[in-house]
Amino acid sequence: MVNRKISHRPTICYRPIQPSDLEVLERLHADIFPIRYEEEFFQNVVHARDIVSWAAVDRSRPNGHSDELIGFVTARIVLAKETEIGDLLIYDPLKPDQTLVYILTLGVVETYRNLGIARSLIRQVIKYASSIPTCHAVYLHVISYNIPAIHLYKKMSFKCIRRLQGFYLINDQHYDSFLFVYYVNGGCSPCSPLFHDALISSCHVDCLIFYLELLVAAVSYMTSSLKTVAARLRKNEEEICAGTSMPGG
Ligand SMILES: CC(C)(COP(=O)(O)OP(=O)(O)OC[C@H]1O[C@@H](n2cnc3c(N)ncnc32)[C@H](O)[C@@H]1OP(=O)(O)O)[C@@H](O)C(=O)NCCC(=O)NCCS
Repeated sequence: MVNRKISHRPTICYRPIQPSDLEVLERLHADIFPIRYEEEFFQNVVHARDIVSWAAVDRSRPNGHSDELIGFVTARIVLAKETEIGDLLIYDPLKPDQTLVYILTLGVVETYRNLGIARSLIRQVIKYASSIPTCHAVYLHVISYNIPAIHLYKKMSFKCIRRLQGFYLINDQHYDSFLFVYYVNGGCSPCSPLFHDALISSCHVDCLIFYLELLVAAVSYMTSSLKTVAARLRKNEEEICAGTSMPGG
C-alpha cells in the first residue's frame, strides 16, 4: 500500500508565489484540477500581474525541496459591480469602487492534506481582503461534488449563497457549482439582519420626515374624530336631559 502521509515533522511557511515556482505550480494544477489552465494564467500568477498568491512550503522537507510548493492559493481583486454577486451586497452607488477578492485556485499536495494548510492559505486571503478598505467580501466557486472543499469553506464560516446549474463543463459534461462568500469590512448580503440595520441607518432623511408627517396627520385626524364623537355624545346627553325634565317639569 502507498504511504500517503509524509514521514517527517513538517515546518510549514507561507510566502508569495515567485517566478521560480512556475514549473511546480503548473504541475500541481495539472495534477489536482480537472480543468486545464492557460499558460497566461501561470505567467500572471508568478509575476503577480493582477493576481495575488500565497505558497505553502515545508522548510523541513528533505532532498533540496524545502522551498518547493506543497500548497497554493491564487486570487484576484474584482470590482463588485462587475461581478455576479454585486446584487447580493449592499451596493452603494455613491461608492462605485467597491471591490471583492475572488479565489481562483486553491490546492494542497495530497501527502500534506488535513494538516490545516488550506485553512491557513485562506486565512491569508481573508487578512489581505480585510486590509483593503473598499473590499467587502472574499468569494469563490466550488464544484458541487467537492466535499472536502465544501467542508473547509463551511468550517471557515463562508456562506453558501447560490447554486449555479451547469456552471462547469468538464469532458463535455456539465456540473453545478456552489458560490461561497466570506464577508469582510462590514460587508453583508441583503438577506442578513445586518443589511436591514444598514438599510435603516442609511434611510434618507426625507423618508423619515415623510413618515413623521404621516404620523402627525394620523394623530390629528384621530383627535378631531374623538372631538366630534365627544360633541355628539354631549348633545345626545343634553337632549335626553331636556326630554326627561319635560314631563315632570
Ligand atoms: C480542499 C483542500 C484544499 C483542503 O486542503 P487541506 O489542507 O487538507 O485542508 P485543511 O487541513 O486546512 O482542512 C480544514 C478543514 O477542511 C475540512 N476538510 C479538509 N479535508 C477534508 C476531507 N477530506 N473531508 C472532509 N472535510 C475535510 C475539514 O473541515 C477541516 O477541518 P478539521 O480538520 O478541523 O475538521 C485539499 O483537499 C485539496 O487540495 N483538494 C483538491 C483541490 C481542491 O479541491 N481545491 C478547492 C477547489 S474550490
